[in-house]
Amino acid sequence: MAKKNFISIADHTEKEINYLIRQSYNLKAQARAGKKHELLPGESLAMIFDKPSTRTRVSFDVAMYELGGHAINISAGECGLGARESVPDVARTLSRFCDAIMIRTFGHETAVELAANAAVPVINGLTDLLHPCQAMADALTMYEVTGDLKGVKLTYIGDANNVTNSLINLADKTGIDITVCSPKGYTPDKKIVGDSKYRLLSDPSAAVKKADFIYTDVWVSMGQEKSSARKAKAFKNYQVNARLLQKAPKHAKVLHCLPAHRGLEITDEVIDDPERSIVFEQAENRLHAQKAILVYLLK
Ligand code: CP
Ligand code: NVA
Repeated sequence: MAKKNFISIADHTEKEINYLIRQSYNLKAQARAGKKHELLPGESLAMIFDKPSTRTRVSFDVAMYELGGHAINISAGECGLGARESVPDVARTLSRFCDAIMIRTFGHETAVELAANAAVPVINGLTDLLHPCQAMADALTMYEVTGDLKGVKLTYIGDANNVTNSLINLADKTGIDITVCSPKGYTPDKKIVGDSKYRLLSDPSAAVKKADFIYTDVWVSMGQEKSSARKAKAFKNYQVNARLLQKAPKHAKVLHCLPAHRGLEITDEVIDDPERSIVFEQAENRLHAQKAILVYLLK
């Protein structure tokens, strides 16, 4: 059987994605009950980081440990992916030592090239284009609140970036009803999410009116720092704050993939609101969602 990768949610069937969400829910229940779930004994994951990380790095490391395996961190400086050594040669070498590779990098094509040349599964831990592992954790987080993702109203406010693209992919597979609310010039790239169903609005008040979940992410993603001043202007009316939440249903919960730029895309009072914000549950769910992905790829 051909090896599987996890580069984009779009590469997988509805059945597979919904199975992964249920598995992450089950694995979280097992972890909470203190039950051992060493499903990958002795297996090794190589993790290549060309960009910084807290959640992705630690959650993959802990996931491998709790599954009975182990993870190896390879920072940009050490590996020199594409500079010190070609991407295919790194793929071939790591495939001889490890059972899977996780990569966080800039160009999406680097992750695709790595996957094409690796004999083992490759997982996308974020590229400029997509953040599929994040969206799988987000799916678990919304599923825990609602018990069913079909028809759940998710409103994403802000820069249509890697996180947004993967949320749109997730909506395609799960029946989530997604609205993206971004200013002109920062809407989803048709080349990436062209055939997907999503509602595009530019007025945040209208966008949150019926939302079950309100999601935001940084206006300036890693590697785009030069655009900070321009974006601060473009997004000034797109902050998720208490005034905006007054326009949303009382039950609406707030999501953010983190790290947050407090005071820009989200205010302290919202992110720290125990009634509204579930961002740290969401962060924890990276661990459980990625365990499901690892087991699915390696078993
Ligand atoms: N959400 C997320 O991917 O966090 P890190 O950048 O800290 O890994
Ligand atoms: N869009 C953000 C997500 C960080 C997890 C970035 O790419 O920096």
